[in-house]
Amino acid sequence: MAKVAVILGSLWGDEGKGKIVDHLAEQADVIARFGGGSNAGHTISLNGEEYKLRLIPSGILYSDKLCVIGNGVVLDPQCIIEEMDALKARGVDVSNIKISNRAHVVLPYHKLFDNLSEENRGAKKIGTTGRGISPCYIDRDDRIGIRVCDFIDKEEFAARLKDVLAQKNLILEKIYNQAPLDYEKVLREYESYAERLKPYVCDTITLLNEQMDAGKKILFEGAQATMLDIDYGTYPYVTASHPVSGGVCVGAGVAPKKIDAVVGVVKAYCTRVGEGPFPTEQLNEIGEKLRSVGHEYGTVTGRARRTGWLDACIVKYAGQISGMDYMAVTRLDILDSFEEIKLCVGYKLNGEIINEVPASLKTYAQVEPIYESFSGWKSEISGIREYGKLPANAKKYLERLAEVTGIKLGIVSVGPNRDQTIVVENIF
Ligand code: GDP
Ligand code: IMO
Ligand code: MG
Repeated sequence: MAKVAVILGSLWGDEGKGKIVDHLAEQADVIARFGGGSNAGHTISLNGEEYKLRLIPSGILYSDKLCVIGNGVVLDPQCIIEEMDALKARGVDVSNIKISNRAHVVLPYHKLFDNLSEENRGAKKIGTTGRGISPCYIDRDDRIGIRVCDFIDKEEFAARLKDVLAQKNLILEKIYNQAPLDYEKVLREYESYAERLKPYVCDTITLLNEQMDAGKKILFEGAQATMLDIDYGTYPYVTASHPVSGGVCVGAGVAPKKIDAVVGVVKAYCTRVGEGPFPTEQLNEIGEKLRSVGHEYGTVTGRARRTGWLDACIVKYAGQISGMDYMAVTRLDILDSFEEIKLCVGYKLNGEIINEVPASLKTYAQVEPIYESFSGWKSEISGIREYGKLPANAKKYLERLAEVTGIKLGIVSVGPNRDQTIVVENIF
């Protein structure tokens, strides 16, 4: 059984990664994020209560797990403090959080630029979460980012902020015609966040590697998903990070050979928030039914999610990129009342079957999904806890999905709660 497992989104996000990580975390010692930032919205339902997490790993509801925020995460200090306070107010212990000293800090100008460049794109907007994610990664790559180690060093932060803000204010005033940000004000506010976060900061690379050497079980929690990856997704309608298994190595300082299981979380149908291609989208009553039965509205932005049939071509592609050993299929219960369920098993382009997810969005917009049709099971499955007890039609659907993608079924989730989980194979 695996000691180091990676949990990833296989579609366009919101597959139920939080639920699966929380479920598996019971057996883990460490739960670590390696990329993305507060654009993530991971939900855990426990004892009738719902917890929505953005930056804090989904292991936090267990008091004895280390919850690590790796160097590949872009850390919004204000957001994580709010999250910590909200959890504390609900009686959750947050003292086991560890923040990488190499993570980059999201500052107010990142959020401003995120929203200003979206406005500027007009009809071509990406539909970002407005959380400053891409501007923060841009600054990292431009080598003008501020890392956590410098953020918590008072003098260093004051000096770096002065330099960067001078540049950012020029752009704000001269290009966007906006009022500049006040250095003293930003400094005072963010200095207070730095003081609050300082006790949680450490070298998480050493920490994670020591934990692995000691034989501890580590769960890496992906945010976003393959189709939102900056390289593998539907560029430019993507996020700015690498939510694939390779992202763990660079976003947490872990060698590839240390990873022994990769789990792709697959929603039983597809959703997408924001713009960009979506071949199996159902702009009809089926799509509306998926949205209303599934309450498909974004955790972070509240936006209505676009909905459609599950696309096994994408899951297969995600599986290849990340080496997915298992699938955790979630929200199967949302399909309980459907007469017919469709699965996209291939793409046709100009009448020919193609074997790839096209890079060009122009081409991708022209692909025609090849569907296989399945009879629905028309019964409630949320109380089932054994794979063998699932209706035959549900098993047919799942098994065909495993066949088309070449990825084994590991978990089937039949409801949001921790226990509404069918373990098909022990992963961890
Ligand atoms: P994440 O971003 O991948 O963690 O997913 P989100 O939390 O954004 O969205 C998934 C939603 O589905 C959340 O509201 C979960 O509580 C819920 N959920 C997860 N698994 C299941 C399931 O098997 N059935 C149902 N009905 N809801 C689920
Ligand atoms: P979780 O972890 C769904 C989408 C945004 C937008 C694009 C770029 O909850 O699955 P960004 O703010 O990252 O620059 O936005 O990516 N997006 C997500 N969609 N779930 C997420 O996270 C997402 N994180 C980003 O909607 O289309
Ligand atoms: Mg989400």
